[in-house]
Formats: sequence, C-alpha cells, structure tokens
Amino acid sequence: MLKKLWLWLGRWLAKLTLTLVVVAGLGWGLGTAYYSWKFSGPVSSEEQIPLDEDRYTQTIIEDAIRVVEQHRDNTRVLRDAHAKAHGCLKAEVSVLQDLAPDLRHGVLQEPGKTWQAWVRLSNGNAYPQFDRARDARGMAIKLLDVPGTKLLASPQHANEQDFVMFNHPAFFVRDVAEYQSNFAAQADGKKVLAFFPSWDPRSWEVRHLIIALKTLSPAPQTPVQTTYNSIAPFKLGPHNIKYRVIPAAENCPNYSLPAPNTDLPNFLRSSLYQQLSLDRSPACFALQVQKQNPQYYMPIEDPSVEWDESISPFQTVALITLPAQDFDSSEQNLFCDNLAFNPWHALPEHRPIGGINRLRKAVYQAVSIYRQERNQAQTQ
Ligand code: HEM
Repeated sequence: MLKKLWLWLGRWLAKLTLTLVVVAGLGWGLGTAYYSWKFSGPVSSEEQIPLDEDRYTQTIIEDAIRVVEQHRDNTRVLRDAHAKAHGCLKAEVSVLQDLAPDLRHGVLQEPGKTWQAWVRLSNGNAYPQFDRARDARGMAIKLLDVPGTKLLASPQHANEQDFVMFNHPAFFVRDVAEYQSNFAAQADGKKVLAFFPSWDPRSWEVRHLIIALKTLSPAPQTPVQTTYNSIAPFKLGPHNIKYRVIPAAENCPNYSLPAPNTDLPNFLRSSLYQQLSLDRSPACFALQVQKQNPQYYMPIEDPSVEWDESISPFQTVALITLPAQDFDSSEQNLFCDNLAFNPWHALPEHRPIGGINRLRKAVYQAVSIYRQERNQAQTQ
C-alpha cells in the first residue's frame, strides 16, 4: 500500500515538474518573441515628455527624504542612494590625443586636455551595509575648473562637470510614472511587490524585476575592477549618447591586488587603500561613449533598454587615472560625504536627456540640499 502511494507520488511529481518546465519554456519563448516585436526600431531621436511627468516629482522627493530619514546613521543624514562611500579619490581625466573630430564637444573639445577630478566610489544601497551584500556599485566623477555656463544655476557647482554611473547597464524602471509607484512601494518595504502594483497581470513588471535582481550583484574584488554605466542617455554636442567607464589596467603599470578578505565589512575600501596608498600603484580606466542609432531600438525615454553594442559599439574618448594617493583620512571622508554629484552639473553640450534624467535634476538637488542643511555642512 505504502509502495503504491510512493509510486503514485513519484509519477505525480514527475508530471508536475514536466508541466512546469514546458510552461516556463513556453513563457520564455513567448516573452522573447514579444520583446523582439516590441523592441524593434526605429525610435525617436528627440525627447518625448509625458504631460503628467512633473506631478510625480514632488512625491518622489518626499519619499526620498522619508528614506533618508529611515536610514540615518547615528546623527548624520546620508544620501538617499549610494550612501556608503569606499573613498573619494583624486583623479585625472585626459581627452584622447586623436579623438575623432565629431566627438569633440564640451569637456572633450580639446584633444590631450587633462582635467583634475574627484571620483567617489560607492555601494548603491540607501543604508551602509557589508560590502559582500549583493548591491550596485556606483562611480561619480566631478571634473573641476570647467569653464562655461552650466545647466543648473548653482554657484557652488558653477565650475563642475559631473558623470554619475553604476555598474549595471539597464535601469529597473522605464519612466517617471513607474519610478514613482515602484519607489513608494520600496520605501514602504515592499521590495518585490513593488514590481506587481495590482492584481492586473498587465501591470506586472517581470522584466524590470529581473533587471533589479541582476543589478544587485556580488561585489567585485575592488571598485577599480568593474564597469560603470550612465544607463540613461545624454547629449554629446549634436549626438545622443550613453557613456560608461571601463577598467583599463593595460594603461597602468602591472599590478596584482592581493586577494581581499571579503568577510570584512569594508573590504572595498581596504582594496583601494591596499593598491593606491600602500602599494602606491595607480588604477586606470577609459571613458567611452555609445552613439544612438535611431534606426534601431535605442530609445531615449526607456533606460531599462540597453542599446545594442553590436549595432553601436562604445568608443574610447578619454583616459582616467587614479594616481597613487592617501585618501582615507577623516577630513577627506567628511569632505567626500559633503560633496554633491548631479548629472545636471553639466555643460549644455552634455545635457542629460530622457525622463529618468529629467527626474534626477530636481531629486538630487533637493536631497543633497536637505542632507547638507541637516548636517550643517561647511563644504560642498
Ligand atoms: C540612470 C540611473 C541612475 C544612476 C546611474 C544613478 C547613480 C547614482 C550614483 C552613483 C549616486 C551617488 C553619487 C555620489 O557618489 O554622491 C547617486 C546618488 C543619488 N541618486 Fe541616483 N542614479 C540613477 C537614478 C536615480 C533616480 C531615478 C533617482 C531618483 C529620482 C536617484 C536618486 C539619487 C539620489 C537622491 C542620490 C543622492 C544625491 C545626494 O544626496 O547627493 N537616482 N545616484
């Protein structure tokens, strides 16, 4: 009797597994077919601003400040995103000597020009956590002494050109409306439910949930061994581009980082300290741009879609060096905390475009001013 029951159960489980595999396969096939139909070009090369976009911004700012207050570290108010820094580093950004003439715009106008810069490396989470936790890793670059009128009329940032990136190539929402509902749910602690806003399956954002899960990736051994993406598009003179920063160890003297102890909470900072401060070995990157080809599905208004590299490959435009340096002092860490990066600290030639970038303009400014005032920061 018992044997019969086991056999029946075994057959039933086998059938169930087979059915699930077939359903999953069909779902995958249908999904792939649907997206290759939906994501086919041509697309607009202009911004298309939804009428109701502005009304979401204020709610998002309020939710961001709610998150900032939820995650206060003792008495200091941290960033709403990328709260934990691995260090603020001095950097040099040198425009390629033989940069193609059609890419010479804004800070890339003069081949061979070297800009002094600050680079802040970070974990993505709103709350500082152990570096081994799955997370996005951020890189923010601030070029200094950049002449020319900027897009944000802020006297403190009048001479700055910022580039703000993290190490996944796609964003987990498509537009401001979706960001508002997703972020509000996440601020209420509904991390996965944020992608399933109602019982109506048409509102389910499974593809975006997969992007969010992939964004939360294991830490690299060091912040200088991962690629950072702009994800959202920007202007480069007349072009629409995305940019990224890739490690370019070949441009630096040979260096091999001793394996870090990844159980330590701040091993990413320790890796930087080991390479730049103890071993006095610089780190090298390349800044690259990818031009939009609007004949293909390379949308301006949906940063959840990567632009296909086989159609439009990235081109190197500048080299970035983090020289050997001492960076881990309490003064420099405080200075770093009080810096404010914003993709709109920019020359018009590098204008951020697309809904997510339009949203970032007001939110970054509001949150950085809020935390700086709360911390009574002396430096910005
Ligand atoms: C393309 C997508 C995005 C990328 C690549 C990105 C990347 C980053 C990075 C690297 C930082 C840390 C900057 C630093 O080191 O100080 C940051 C900060 C921040 N991000 Fe984003 N982010 C994106 C989208 C968004 C969106 C859609 C929002 C909300 C509207 C947002 C809100 C913030 C805020 C409030 C801060 C802190 C600003 C401050 O207090 O100075 N980000 N982001």
